[in-house]
Amino acid sequence: MEIIKVNKIKEQDKKYNLHSWSAQGNLNPDVIEKAEGIYFWNSDGKKYFDMSSQLVNLNVGHGNKKIIDAIKKQAEKMAYMGPGYAVDVRSELAAKVIEKAPDNMAKVFFTLSGAESNENAIKIAKMVTGRNKVFSRYRSYHGASYGAANLSGEPRRYTCEPGIPGFVKFFDPYIYREGIDFGSEEAASKYYVNKLREQIIYEGPESVAAIFIETITGSNGVIIPPIGYLKGLRDICDDYGIMLVCDEVMTGWGRTGEWFGLNNWNLEPDMITFAKGITCGYVPLGGVIVNKKIADHFDDNVLYCGLTYNAHPISCAAGCATIKVYEDEKLIENCKAMGKILGEELEKLKEKHASVGDVRYIGLFSAVELVKDKASREAIVPYGKDPEKIMGRIIGKLKEKGFSTYSHENCIIVAPPLIIKEEELKEALVLLDEVLDYVDKEII
Ligand SMILES: Cc1ncc(COP(=O)(O)O)c(C=O)c1O
Repeated sequence: MEIIKVNKIKEQDKKYNLHSWSAQGNLNPDVIEKAEGIYFWNSDGKKYFDMSSQLVNLNVGHGNKKIIDAIKKQAEKMAYMGPGYAVDVRSELAAKVIEKAPDNMAKVFFTLSGAESNENAIKIAKMVTGRNKVFSRYRSYHGASYGAANLSGEPRRYTCEPGIPGFVKFFDPYIYREGIDFGSEEAASKYYVNKLREQIIYEGPESVAAIFIETITGSNGVIIPPIGYLKGLRDICDDYGIMLVCDEVMTGWGRTGEWFGLNNWNLEPDMITFAKGITCGYVPLGGVIVNKKIADHFDDNVLYCGLTYNAHPISCAAGCATIKVYEDEKLIENCKAMGKILGEELEKLKEKHASVGDVRYIGLFSAVELVKDKASREAIVPYGKDPEKIMGRIIGKLKEKGFSTYSHENCIIVAPPLIIKEEELKEALVLLDEVLDYVDKEII
């Protein structure tokens, strides 16, 4: 790209755009010119492996022609129709979503994002149960709008405090940092489930509407539930008439090698929230899937939820096309196969590097947890603080080598598009290996 043009983009960006989660003064974002498949290129022609699928949403990769054509076609046919009407793509996508969801699921309410999906799920849980408390976990991110931020447990919630009354937090099964030798995953699950049951009893189970979980904690370090944990949560919910809501915004739509993350444990929650992979960011779309009991409730009771862009026809057309791409290109199968290789390679990196304390992976969803010392497990940066911008430097080094991703606390997220091939994956992981050499030598 011509330098004059690049400078103009940068200048206008600096002058007029506010970027998320950042102090603006020192920002100098790369100008991106082109994106295709698992790669994108900046204005100097530098090529990056997109090893986070942008924000773990671009599961089909960049530039998928089938999705782009579906969007164009729908825009020409009928760009918008209000939520009160039935539209072909609106009906078709709802049917497809329910077909892919667990058997107990019945209907879907479409939104535009993960946060909006969680906002509406909170309201639905309260409307159906008539209760007011909502449980969610500390190591969670459920979105940045007010209700979803209150649901989130990590520091991105702080600016929305003092919080909404009735939002209660509990701890994740983060075994690596628990400091207890449980002996088995089942024993760990028992510990966490019993603690939660006790907490719910103290809060008054009859006041608890829902327990929200990211089925697999995502940006807060890919924390995979131990065996028996999700069943334990399901049992608690059944015992007390509480709704179990799985936030599948990151883990849904193939990311873990299954349609939804919860399929890995045959879990049937009461609601599922989703976004990201349903349209892979080509246009915005999210939704709340509800079970039969909830769907029936709203036969006679008003669903007090509404959005001008509920089930937007262009988004629904993109959603139908995206599901077809997953099916036709066997992306979920590829994710499973590539996930196996990713896991093997990450284990090698853990073995080799002093700075790698733990690696956690399922499908093409993984985190590399960095430590100062393997034995003590002291994190490379203390929780919530990174004054020397250590993680930023590591992510910068990766970027210099052409490996684009992001970090959260002391974890590097590795979650490439589900279309990645074995040679590409291995090529990218060599770059990660080189940067981990640097971390071992220069940082810890
Ligand atoms: C698990 C989870 N839930 C909800 C959200 C919020 O989604 P959105 O940014 O589309 O509002 C995210 C975003 O990263 C997420 O990872």
